[in-house]
Amino acid sequence: MHPVLIIFAHPTFQNSRVNRALLNAAQSVPGVKIHDLYERYPDFHINVAHEQQAMLEAHTIILQHPFHWYSCPSLMKEWLDVVLTRGWAYGSSGEALKGKRLMSVISTGGPQDSYQKGSSNYYPITELLFPFDQTARLCGMEYLPPLMFHGALRAEPNAIAAHANHYQQLLTTLAA
Ligand SMILES: Cc1cc2nc3c(=O)[nH]c(=O)nc-3n(C[C@H](O)[C@H](O)[C@H](O)COP(=O)(O)O)c2cc1C
Repeated sequence: MHPVLIIFAHPTFQNSRVNRALLNAAQSVPGVKIHDLYERYPDFHINVAHEQQAMLEAHTIILQHPFHWYSCPSLMKEWLDVVLTRGWAYGSSGEALKGKRLMSVISTGGPQDSYQKGSSNYYPITELLFPFDQTARLCGMEYLPPLMFHGALRAEPNAIAAHANHYQQLLTTLAA
């Protein structure tokens, strides 16, 4: 088994359609552990030792979140800031995450074709994800291709269900 840890952040989960379906699909996959950050740490006081231990036990770490202002929701940014410490995750003696895999699983309100020059979101999504890609690189991790669901606000229920099914299969493969 190659344990998968999903770090999940959604500040208004009660209104979620896409990430709710994805999380439901992930829950039943053997070898997958989910940390729902807004549920665990509503006061933003993250238990760093607990989060680092969970990362040590995982082979793949997934950052799952809606895209918020071309990045992650603020509690996930806080999680990155306080959990990925120097001397542990990076720096000359920071090798705790070396060889592990990091993956972004995101949903966007904007449709896929809005993420290109000349359109409203202008930059390709892979470029907007460079901070996550580079975070992985600095920690000696492999950044896997991101899984994305675009046009979340107008998506049909059957498209969301198909995507959740795809996510479940992907998690099963990653955790095997
Ligand atoms: C504060 C905020 C910022 C957002 N920023 C973006 C953005 O930068 N790009 C985008 O495509 N959608 C953006 N959205 C739309 C969300 O990505 C979209 O509502 C979400 O992916 C839907 O997923 P859900 O059904 O799980 O809530 C934003 C939404 C909020 C509330």
